[in-house]
Amino acid sequence: MKMPLAVPSVPGAVPVLGHTRMLSRKPMDFLSSLTSGPDLVKIRLGPHPVVIICNPDLTQQMLSDSRTFDKGGPLVDLVAPLVGEGLATCPLSKHKPARQLFQPIFNRGMAAAHANRFPSAVAKVTAGWRDGLVLDMPVEARRLTIQVAVDTLFADVFSEQEVDQIADDLTSWQVGAAQRMSRPPVFDLLPTPTNRRFDVGLKRVRQTVTEAITRHRRSGREKVGVLGALLSPEGERIPWFNTPTLVDHAMTFLIAPTATVSTVLCWIWHELAQRSELQARLQTEVDTVLGGEAPTFEHLPELELTKRIVTEALRLYPSIHFAPLRTVTTDTRLGEYDLPAGTVVAYSPYIIHRRHDLYENPELFDPDRWLGAKLPMPSRHAFIPFGHGTRQCIAGEYAFNEAVLTVAAIASHWRLESVAGTPLPTRGSVNLTPRGLRLQVSRRISFDETTDAGQPHGTEGGRQRPTQSKAWLI
Ligand code: HEM
Repeated sequence: MKMPLAVPSVPGAVPVLGHTRMLSRKPMDFLSSLTSGPDLVKIRLGPHPVVIICNPDLTQQMLSDSRTFDKGGPLVDLVAPLVGEGLATCPLSKHKPARQLFQPIFNRGMAAAHANRFPSAVAKVTAGWRDGLVLDMPVEARRLTIQVAVDTLFADVFSEQEVDQIADDLTSWQVGAAQRMSRPPVFDLLPTPTNRRFDVGLKRVRQTVTEAITRHRRSGREKVGVLGALLSPEGERIPWFNTPTLVDHAMTFLIAPTATVSTVLCWIWHELAQRSELQARLQTEVDTVLGGEAPTFEHLPELELTKRIVTEALRLYPSIHFAPLRTVTTDTRLGEYDLPAGTVVAYSPYIIHRRHDLYENPELFDPDRWLGAKLPMPSRHAFIPFGHGTRQCIAGEYAFNEAVLTVAAIASHWRLESVAGTPLPTRGSVNLTPRGLRLQVSRRISFDETTDAGQPHGTEGGRQRPTQSKAWLI
């Protein structure tokens, strides 16, 4: 056996903050700089050393061994007050029964039922759009994805006002979380407006979910979706399932879709707004395939360009771009490096997806690189937006279909154009966002001129709300 190598440290750490500032100020430049270096590198997030895996094979090896690399690390600590020991953050010892409980919601057999509900949920939000409206895209995308999650996974247990409040509270949380990732914890205690909104948002959103669970438990309604699973006899039998744990799991299924699909949608529209030729090709595809109707599960095979656009956005802008989510449980070796128990390990779909040895012109947004590829999962080795192994995303197919059908539904009725001066430079946060992206929407005349075909029933009128101030911070 070869002598182990010492994991090299990335230069540029500063006292107290380590590499935190680089990762939060210029996350894309920082991660891109690691794509062609050593297989493993060490950085410091404040006082905490973190080993980043930059090699695709070692990433697979780590993700395939959830016993040696269990959940834990700075990102888990950051989201713990919001989602506690929900499915995405619980240790391996509590994972299996919970995963089995939720898995049926995302099984193949459910794909059509979910897919056919996405467009009407999207239409509830877009019905509030009008010609010339300038959208705060990250906020709007968050509303879209919360509405979709509520309509498909929560059996309409939240009122319209609650959906809006949840969207605002999760925005406040994400703004606060972005700040918390870039400074020493002592600043979290200061009574700044962002800290206050973070604390209030966190408390209120968990309260809203707690009340929804209580309401649903007492109601005579059929128990389906996430709350249905939690309140089922199988759920009741899991010994550690008390009320806070139920809230942790329900919160996970609100924040996970919102924080991820919404950022992918933002990046897609950012790219499309800059590439009128690509947006025109997309419109031609959706006009031909949908003919002005709302998209359904049956349309998915024919929406080929739309699927390539979503795949390319997942490659270039993976929502979980940098994930310090694992802690080594027993001394182990990864590649040529020894990792003692307690080491915090991060993996990065962003680094893997931008490696020159895996992709030609990796920095280029080129949906046609996927022509002829098997989508949504073209390669296990080089394409890992949904992770891998037992802790891989439970909702990969759901998320992919949601993004495809949302893009198709919007493109068939709306053109989106850039607003000068946006987005602002991307900052490091839980997810990568085109910060402050503003897009102007104009109604396409092809199908809207004579009828409202394609706009599902019950969505006329829409909801127009002022956006929360300073939401552009993320
Ligand atoms: C573009 C959209 C999405 C992306 C890129 C994404 C990405 C990921 C990744 C990379 C992981 C694995 C994290 C790890 O290795 O620790 C994960 C886990 C997870 N995701 Fe997603 N996700 C997306 C959408 C969703 C949606 C829509 C839901 C729920 C409806 C969801 C729920 C979850 C859950 C519950 C886990 C934890 C799974 C487990 O540990 O068993 N995700 N996701």
